[in-house]
Amino acid sequence: MDGNGRWARARNKPRHAGHRAGVRSVRATVEVAAERGVECLTLFAFSSENWRRPEEEVSNLMGLFVEALRREVDELHRNNVRLRFIGARQQLKPGLVRKISAAEAKTAGNSGLLLNVAVAYGGRWDIVEAAKRLATDVANGTLSLAAIDESTFADRLQLAGAPDADLLIRTGGEERISNFLLWNLAYAELYFTDVLWPEFDKDEFDKALAFFAGKQRRYGHTGDQVEAAQC
Ligand code: FPP
Repeated sequence: MDGNGRWARARNKPRHAGHRAGVRSVRATVEVAAERGVECLTLFAFSSENWRRPEEEVSNLMGLFVEALRREVDELHRNNVRLRFIGARQQLKPGLVRKISAAEAKTAGNSGLLLNVAVAYGGRWDIVEAAKRLATDVANGTLSLAAIDESTFADRLQLAGAPDADLLIRTGGEERISNFLLWNLAYAELYFTDVLWPEFDKDEFDKALAFFAGKQRRYGHTGDQVEAAQC
């Protein structure tokens, strides 16, 4: 969700106004994803590296997460959305962690869109944590070394149980993954747009879906093999 700061600067507003405007795009994106039958949507709201931003911006962002949880969770619940947070939540303030846990518990039984919000998240951190869990399980004797494979590894990642990511959307003009879901994006189609996040709306989401629909997913097969399998 890149481009909040530039959106604000272009309007002579503080960066925080850009993040606040970004919440509107979050709402629109969640709505359209649910309408289009997307199974799982993961939003990169705050990276492991974002702690390096000025203290005031970090504190404003954390305040925005608390506010968004307070305002949105009931409606998400009414719309059958299951909300989960991924990331190093021990780094967050206890008040935010309490709200996150309550929102997850409230929506845990929902069967609609799985909405993951990545806060204090880094793809490398996720992989290292999974490696530590595997090592612990092997040391405890609950897992044998021979049983370690892609599936047992993925089961210990933050998005364990979620489908692999099909499509990455990055707004704001940069064409990088920036330490997002490194493992889960292995086969994802990458969609980059110059649109700044506060201007990303339902139409922009549909453009990304149209881009995705035009892709042939081969997973190592040839195009002919994929076409033959579709007949
Ligand atoms: C990156 O743009 C954006 C962020 C670090 C924050 C994203 C947070 C939100 C959109 C707030 C709402 C989120 C939820 C889940 C309620 P940037 O600040 O790096 O923009 P720039 O590159 O233009 O400076």
